[in-house]
Amino acid sequence: MTTGSAGSRIVSLGHYQPSTVLTNDDLAQMVDTSDEWIRTRVGIVERRIAEKESVADMATAAAEKAIAGAGMTAADIDLVVVATCSAVDRVPNVATRVAAALSIQAPGAYDINTACSGFSYALATTDHALRAGAARHAVVIGAEKLTDFTDWTDRSSCILFGDGAGAAVVTAAADGEPAGIGPVLWGSAPERGDVVVITANHPYITQEGQTVFRWATTVLPGLAKQACEKAGVDPSELAAFIPHQANLRIIEPLGRKLGAHDAVVARDITESGNTSAASVPLAWSKLVERREIPSGAPVLLFGFGGGLTYAGQVVRSP
Ligand code: UT7
Repeated sequence: MTTGSAGSRIVSLGHYQPSTVLTNDDLAQMVDTSDEWIRTRVGIVERRIAEKESVADMATAAAEKAIAGAGMTAADIDLVVVATCSAVDRVPNVATRVAAALSIQAPGAYDINTACSGFSYALATTDHALRAGAARHAVVIGAEKLTDFTDWTDRSSCILFGDGAGAAVVTAAADGEPAGIGPVLWGSAPERGDVVVITANHPYITQEGQTVFRWATTVLPGLAKQACEKAGVDPSELAAFIPHQANLRIIEPLGRKLGAHDAVVARDITESGNTSAASVPLAWSKLVERREIPSGAPVLLFGFGGGLTYAGQVVRSP
């Protein structure tokens, strides 16, 4: 029996957003809402809408950039993991579609659905696979097209969501190299599974907004702290805090209560809306592209949402 690696690390990131912009004023032409209500209650200014692209198209574009950024080619990748809750087709999964589009030969390929916490779950299972020796170089993607599941007549939900994808190349750490992905803190509140739903009978996303909001602002700060404790990192040492982008009124108090005083806090919701499992890698990739996070610095990723599920881990930024 051979063993795997002592850890894994993130080598590069990539992201993709469709070119069509939907502003709050555009939405005010469709439903009874206003730019002022959306900005003050949620913090969104605009979001991107995929008119032609599928979840797999966006996932592929983000993965292609991440693989190129790692200085790798498709031949180096032996695992493809996609976090998504908005794939329209059941089979084949998105991961194999990405592999086919990028000509990645014979990779392990699976999708994960834990809704908005999906990227941190996917990163954790990838880290575990690399540690176990099941793969050497993986691409981990969060990709969503929630606008396929949006009721454009419902003002309480249609103003929230956008489309996009973010991806990371993750590689097994070499001997003696420190691990770049800390232990995951994951969990769920399954007894509250009905507060965010997309069901077969009503295939549009609906949520009990205030219930989720209260959970996010009261329970999650303690869980985000636990994710730091698991990694042995004090929140004050974080260079960045990248929570799921659901609401600026959740993101900002979460950052304050966590005590991440010196951290860059991701606020990509303003220009992207809520992109579910894509929101964390999308926001992170943009911050790295803008050089707002030093290479090697500790960053807390923290996803939460439907299920109710949550997951977070401290990672070293590429
Ligand atoms: O990503 C998955 C996890 N999800 C989350 O974390 C979401 C957490 N929840 C939230 O972020 C917020 O609850 C929402 C942004 C979804 C809603 O904001 P809210 O401040 O909780 O608003 P509300 O649902 O309590 O509605 C307040 C009022 C209502 O009117 P009345 O009953 O007070 O007259 C709504 O009908 O605002 C009304 N309203 C709107 N008004 C203008 C709801 N949507 C809109 C709208 N424009 N788009």
